[in-house]
Amino acid sequence: MDNITGNPVTDKDFLKTRLFLVNDLKKMLRKCSVIIEAPRRFGKTSVIKELLRRENAKRDDRREFNVLFLELEGDETVNDFCLRLFKELLNLYRIRKKIDSINKLLGEGWNAIAARLGKIKIAGLELDLREKTRNYDLAAWKNEITPLITHLDSIDKATIIVFDEFPDMLLNFKKREPERYKDTIDSLTAWLRSLRQTQEEGCKYRFVFCGSIHLRKTMEELGLGKRINDLESFVIPPIKKEDALLLIESLAKKYNLEIDPDGVVYMVSKIIEGSLYYGQILVKALRETRERNFPRERVKAIYEAMLRRGNHDLNHYHSRLEDYLSLQEKECSEAILKHLCSGAAHEKEIFGLLLHNICTVEQFQSVVHRLIYEGYITRDIDDNGKLRFVAPILKDWWSCKKGVPNVCL
Ligand SMILES: Nc1ncnc2c1ncn2[C@@H]1O[C@H](COP(=O)(O)OP(=O)(O)OP(=O)(O)O)[C@@H](O)[C@H]1O
Ligand SMILES: [Mg+2]
Repeated sequence: MDNITGNPVTDKDFLKTRLFLVNDLKKMLRKCSVIIEAPRRFGKTSVIKELLRRENAKRDDRREFNVLFLELEGDETVNDFCLRLFKELLNLYRIRKKIDSINKLLGEGWNAIAARLGKIKIAGLELDLREKTRNYDLAAWKNEITPLITHLDSIDKATIIVFDEFPDMLLNFKKREPERYKDTIDSLTAWLRSLRQTQEEGCKYRFVFCGSIHLRKTMEELGLGKRINDLESFVIPPIKKEDALLLIESLAKKYNLEIDPDGVVYMVSKIIEGSLYYGQILVKALRETRERNFPRERVKAIYEAMLRRGNHDLNHYHSRLEDYLSLQEKECSEAILKHLCSGAAHEKEIFGLLLHNICTVEQFQSVVHRLIYEGYITRDIDDNGKLRFVAPILKDWWSCKKGVPNVCL
């Protein structure tokens, strides 16, 4: 497997001990639509992309699903979203040789486009589609897209429609239309819910909602929790010791790194309970030295140097907070993280000790939730639900960054 830090991984780069996630997701999708819940960098997109890759690698008659994957992070309007979904659906009808259905479902106004779709790829129609739908509002889009979706039942395989980074898109709506975004999100998610409600027994389409900002929380904060409460949660758990060990050993083998066994133990201890991403970052730091042999002390020195110089791959944890939190929320989040550098603590203790004069308990809780779903901290069920950093590497990094004294790396 290759040392990949950031992009989703598939195939030989997907750690074998985590493949159970792909099978579990598949089983769930046979029954219902799902929302993938996990903090940042836990491998959400990788699980979906590996499922997609596996389906596409099969012979057509062995394939179980058609998977439409929509990456929505850059979409700023409902029109962007609907156009993307519309193109994916048209493309699916084209690939499954159902151009006639498009004619029937969309009506005469679309005959010319449908005829061309029979001859050229969807990318060649991008400009025409954009032009024709330039002034569409959600109601107009619903008219076109709803029949294309309900008619998916006539296609010979079940269709999975994946919305990756869905909550990011909702936040983009907010930036773009601060006054109207709530209504927009309400109408959009009500429509998507109604599509799921028309799913009867034997229905052949499912949706996957996925994204690093917690969707349920985002919707609840808007008072729209009911729009998604029919979705089943698919949870991506933190990694276990076996996962961490296998990752480090596989990458060490691939890049001819001789890491002493107690060096490996040290690395595992820093990433445990977190995600494979941290292990990938550590191996990258070792590789960057261009050395071959790594006794424990050398591993430790490289780790500490990486944290001190400010690691590029960890910085996004912080930059996202800069983007999404208000000044007051930022102050609150920094106080929480700083406090947790000296060890796990109860929410009540942190609020009472540090923040009761600065923000309301609701604001405090909202920041705690955000830190959890940004992948910074977690509630430790084995420690009376105390809050702690997700993995030691994040704690060490934050301690270095904020100059917290007396923290032992
Ligand atoms: N199964 C895996 N095997 C090996 N490495 C993995 C695996 N899953 C995740 N990773 C590591 O984590 C990184 C992020 O993976 P991915 O993009 O799938 O996570 P994500 O949860 O979708 O992240 P984001 O919250 O940023 O959308 C990868 O670049 C890789 O370093
Ligand atoms: Mg992702």
